[in-house]
Amino acid sequence: MAPAHYFDHDPNVGSSPTSVEVNLPDLALQLTSDRGVFSAASLDAGTKLLLLEAPPLSDSDATILDLGCGWGPITCVAARRAPEARIWAVDVNQRARDLTAANAASVGAADRVRVAAPDDVPRDVRFDRILSNPPIRVGKAALHSLLELWLDRLTPTGVAHLVVQRHLGSDSLAKWLEGERFTVDRLKSRAGYRILEIGPRGREPQP
Ligand SMILES: C[S@@+](CC[C@H](N)C(=O)[O-])C[C@H]1O[C@@H](n2cnc3c(N)ncnc32)[C@H](O)[C@@H]1O
Repeated sequence: MAPAHYFDHDPNVGSSPTSVEVNLPDLALQLTSDRGVFSAASLDAGTKLLLLEAPPLSDSDATILDLGCGWGPITCVAARRAPEARIWAVDVNQRARDLTAANAASVGAADRVRVAAPDDVPRDVRFDRILSNPPIRVGKAALHSLLELWLDRLTPTGVAHLVVQRHLGSDSLAKWLEGERFTVDRLKSRAGYRILEIGPRGREPQP
């Protein structure tokens, strides 16, 4: 049997729920994780950096996407920081989706968080903010098509914040995004991670 990856649709490892803490200067959450999902034992360092350093959510972030939600730390923090926002939490991994739904309910946000498989998000939904620790390990081609798919669903004033490890290619990813006519700002680099701020795709260059 092939080894399980955190990005499998159905992790073929037994369930063993565990409690995880998300401790940030503005809030502390006790959530539940499990085997077979990304960073099951604790909040990932890159995700923590994103939650610490991405520009604050505001009232204009009415619709937020957590792309690759895992057990839901980004979704739950966004739900607490933006109490009016609707949040889409998307993942291919069924166990991750179940955990995020349960964790969103535990922070009182079940009514505003929609947990979905990628194909189950209606095509016309647009996002004011995308927050993601994207699945770099799916490989370059899959990552690129994943990012194009979702970044093209930003509103005209929308913005995405991604955290990417430098040694896993944050700088080449930024260059590729620029080549695809997205606007990219390299916001922060710390402890081996970079936070990229990405705006909607621009127009074709004029001849
Ligand atoms: C690096 S993990 C981040 C998980 C979580 N957001 C966190 O910070 O702990 C990336 C997530 O993307 C998910 N993923 C992989 N391929 C995906 C796809 N095509 N669409 C949506 N999510 C995907 C994986 O299952 C995984 O949960």
